[in-house]
Amino acid sequence: MILQAASLLQAGKLVAIPTETVYGLGADALNTNAIQKIYAAKNRPMTNPLIIHLPNDEAMSDWAIDIPKHAWTLAKKYWPGPLTLILPKHPRVPLSATGNQNSVGLRVPNHPMALALLKVFGGGIAAPSANRYGRISPTTAAHVEEELGSQVDLILDGGPCQVGIESTIISMLGEEPIVLRQGSLSAVEIADTLGLPSISYRTSSATQVPGQSESHYAPSKSLYLVEQIRFLDAVQQLEKRGDKFSVLSFGVKPKAFLSQHLWISASNDPASYAHHLYAYLRLLDHSPGDFILVEAPPTDIAWAAVIDRLRRASCQASPLF
Ligand code: TXA
Ligand code: MG
Repeated sequence: MILQAASLLQAGKLVAIPTETVYGLGADALNTNAIQKIYAAKNRPMTNPLIIHLPNDEAMSDWAIDIPKHAWTLAKKYWPGPLTLILPKHPRVPLSATGNQNSVGLRVPNHPMALALLKVFGGGIAAPSANRYGRISPTTAAHVEEELGSQVDLILDGGPCQVGIESTIISMLGEEPIVLRQGSLSAVEIADTLGLPSISYRTSSATQVPGQSESHYAPSKSLYLVEQIRFLDAVQQLEKRGDKFSVLSFGVKPKAFLSQHLWISASNDPASYAHHLYAYLRLLDHSPGDFILVEAPPTDIAWAAVIDRLRRASCQASPLF
């Protein structure tokens, strides 16, 4: 399977690959035709740059130039792992892979199948999440099939992704590192590793980072995020007025809740919650309810990446009451 995947990549085809975060839609990062196919399959704007996946940290200097010391420190500590570094691009990286920018996103994924493929293939694999643009990222091979089906030449099934949400993205382009996208690896931990008091977040510029555009990771149904303190009241009120909806909560289903509607009781542990999040959102999206009600997690740093994804999944919704 790995050999077949490597030769498909060499032939300019698309291969969906499992990683520890989410599944990626992979192509040869040096083949501009193959890169065009990624954008076409996802229906993704050409200005949104792709992440290039590498077999190990030494390969970083084949894809980036002027690599600062902090970048090496992070790569050595966290790769393979859920961290993407944005660096000045090497001249050989095609502009079509970087959305016409002079920077490039690099990461070494921590999944045995992805690493085996990268080793056999020998080059870099450009791979955004294997979903249609703006939709929920896939965390199983079946999700990739559901999102992209026949547009992928091969789907490597590496089981459910362990982390479940996309990598933390850090820009290393300026004087100080900046968090462009939150992930399971927190800004606090990265600041600690670099001996910095803190790391700031970039909050705007949706064109450069689609993961930062307000609506993203979104189910087709409206999703409402309700604070814990108001949650059960909201459920009761909505049921009273006859609404049909599905729920993602931390608590167990109340006896009165209509049995035909889906009620998912999620874990209180942020890592476990993140691991299941996108599969839950897909289930809720496919359930018979008209909309989705989600009990907001605690506003604690450990939940920051999960809250970020839930907010982006919810922002299209019109008012609940
Ligand atoms: O966990 C992940 O990062 C997954 C797996 C497959 O590795 N990939 C992923 O890719 O989430 P994608 O394309 O869905 O999100 C990549 C993000 C985008 O928001 C993109 O804008 C940002 O990385 N990015 C890539 N290169 C960049 C660059 N040169 N400057 C700024 N942002 C960049
Ligand atoms: Mg994505």
